[in-house]
Amino acid sequence: MQEFTHVSDATKLVGKEVTLSGWVYRKRESGGVIFVVLRDSTDIMQMAIKKDNVDARSWEDAQNTTIESSITARGIVKEDKRAPTGYELEVKSFKNISVAEPFPITEYQSTEFLLDNRHLWLRSRKMANILKVRAFVFQYLREFFATRHFWEVTPPVLTKAGGESGAEMFETDFFGQKAYLTQSSQLYLETLVPSLELVYCLIPSFRAEKSRTVKHLAEYWHLEAEEAYYTNEDNMKLQEEMIEYVCQKLAHNNEDLLEALGVDKKSLEVVKAPFKRMTYKEAIDYLNKHGIHKDWLDDLGTEDERILTEKEDKPIFIYKWPMKIKAFYMRADPEDPEFALNADMQAPHGHGEIIGGSEREWDYKKLVDRIKEFKLNEKDYYWYIDLRKYGSIPHSGFGLGTERLIKWILNLDHIRDAIPFPRMINRIAP
Ligand code: 4AD
Repeated sequence: MQEFTHVSDATKLVGKEVTLSGWVYRKRESGGVIFVVLRDSTDIMQMAIKKDNVDARSWEDAQNTTIESSITARGIVKEDKRAPTGYELEVKSFKNISVAEPFPITEYQSTEFLLDNRHLWLRSRKMANILKVRAFVFQYLREFFATRHFWEVTPPVLTKAGGESGAEMFETDFFGQKAYLTQSSQLYLETLVPSLELVYCLIPSFRAEKSRTVKHLAEYWHLEAEEAYYTNEDNMKLQEEMIEYVCQKLAHNNEDLLEALGVDKKSLEVVKAPFKRMTYKEAIDYLNKHGIHKDWLDDLGTEDERILTEKEDKPIFIYKWPMKIKAFYMRADPEDPEFALNADMQAPHGHGEIIGGSEREWDYKKLVDRIKEFKLNEKDYYWYIDLRKYGSIPHSGFGLGTERLIKWILNLDHIRDAIPFPRMINRIAP
């Protein structure tokens, strides 16, 4: 492997000679000096190439280099206030690794054009920084579950039946049998509770929702957990502690990255448990008092979510939903069976629902009745029903949409920027 120094390390080596490798971010010529701003995965640094300081080959390469060419250069690191980041490399040798054709992305481009050229747009500093935050969010989520002694498991992506609404599943042909891309790993996670008790997974879920909104992806990375013996109350506590953990870690460890993306770390420092709670009934009443007509059993739409959370700085829970509008696997509150032992977590400032969770129905008969009530094919769920026959225990779980979490944390306008290659109703390429 070629030996070189990353820009972020080079800035600590003022006066020393280093080799940098990366891509041409900007190029201009002024007063016989070629200024090339190099970009690598860590930062950018201006390089000054003077004809008298380099050999003929280096000078020719610097003249021929273009935006996004891959290059390597050796020189002395200098502090220079005029340079974009306050540092400059006084170049002694310069080499093109691969000269780029004219780069299609220039300053002002339409969103569609940038999406068509996503493979190139991911080089932008904004996208690179978002991808780094995403990697940290995944890292902190895994860390959180490790500290709580959860086992990370890997449920299948190809499935025979779903757990949420059937209309939203992508169908595929599995050697002549109908199969579906998973829309949630919850049911499989539940099968692992009797072996491992506390489990989670971080894998994609697929939703064939035809909605064109700023918070729906057809393929998203779903963090799901299942917890033996947890009540809905324990489940909600776990969720708020998880969100607190991720936000506090980002605020403390990644201030520079957040700042580069225009996010004040204070917006994350305030995210501490406990979170405010509102019942479904309170939410409906609140909306009716604030100019939105809502009937009992209506679901919450984007505008409702905005009104409920616009003044909040932390997520809120909406709990105690009517059983009639919730999934078949949720457990009814034994004290008040009209309602589920469940909760959804809403991100602040209208970023929408980030978590759905509940206690699971663990009684054999009640579960089979719910499956019938939902007109689901019992045969498809034989393995899920079996769990209630062989040593069933109370348990709870939840699912977090990681892109929705990132959208809120970074205050992104659209969920598509929280994932490198968004899959949406009108987009499957690149
Ligand atoms: O509310 P959902 O549909 O719940 C489930 O799938 C449960 N089985 C989860 C569980 O209990 N294990 O989805 C959970 C979360 C939502 O709160 C949302 O954050 C995210 O998944 N989500 C989406 N994110 C992006 N694009 C979509 N189309 C999404 N649909 C759901």
